[in-house]
Amino acid sequence: MTALLQLLLLVSVTMASEPSCPSCSKYDYEEKVLERMIRMEFAFENVLKENKAVSETVEEDLTRIKEENERLHATVDVLKDQQEQAERRLVSLMEEIEINQSSTLEKIVSDSNTTLEQTIAAFNDIKDKIVTPLVFFHARSPLTNTLSTGEMIVYKTVEINLGNGYSSTTGKFTAPARGLYLFLMHTCTPPNANAYLHMMNEGSVVMGSARYNVGHYTCSSSQVFVQLDAGKTVWVQCSSGSKLFENSNYWTSFGGALIHN
Ligand SMILES: *[C@@H]1O[C@H](CO)[C@@H](O)[C@H](O)[C@H]1NC(C)=O
Ligand SMILES: *[C@@H]1O[C@H](CO)[C@@H](O)[C@H](O)[C@H]1NC(C)=O
Repeated sequence: MTALLQLLLLVSVTMASEPSCPSCSKYDYEEKVLERMIRMEFAFENVLKENKAVSETVEEDLTRIKEENERLHATVDVLKDQQEQAERRLVSLMEEIEINQSSTLEKIVSDSNTTLEQTIAAFNDIKDKIVTPLVFFHARSPLTNTLSTGEMIVYKTVEINLGNGYSSTTGKFTAPARGLYLFLMHTCTPPNANAYLHMMNEGSVVMGSARYNVGHYTCSSSQVFVQLDAGKTVWVQCSSGSKLFENSNYWTSFGGALIHN
């Protein structure tokens, strides 16, 4: 449009400046007008060409901008997707850590419980090994006062019997636990009577005593240490015809205790 206006302006200017010179030929003037018109046509074509080129460039630029815009949109979408994925991953990771932490905690608690139980069991084991169980007994009053050779003395009155080692029916002490035992016997005889006694461990003599006195009641006491395994027995028996004496004064008795295991 601008180009057309420019052309009209040119034409009118050319018309206006038509020579009034009488010497100039009519053809000369027409020639010049024609020449100008041709030049103007060229110029006009150039302007048109330039316009077209400019509009093509603009169109290309627009297309490029459009494409760029689409690419940017696509990139933004991808970034959004990635962000959402990252957020989801983060959330699930945090949940996993939470679960792991609580299961780790549970494991620690149960492990320490197990350790504690093992420690308690080990402690009890050691305690059983080092603590001497309470075993001791004291019995008195022989079932019979007149004894023949080899006869076992049954002390029928049980004063104490911790660990239940002594039997008042057999007169035997049976070790409830392995260890070192101290045994004692206290024996009294009436005047002018003999008493010959042996303390026995599983059929072997561990201690002997003999007494006789004219005209008086007398007593004697004997002690012995014996190492026993659990289940082994100890008792007192007559080694030759004897007469004992016992009344409620605790004159004849048999006792023992586990002193070390
Ligand atoms: C959770 O525990 C499992 C199994 O022990 C392990 O494979 C995983 O890596 C742990 N997860 C985290 C986030 O620590
Ligand atoms: C720990 O052990 C005790 C005894 O065996 C049991 O009663 C308790 O439930 C245990 N505690 C845990 C947290 O496992």
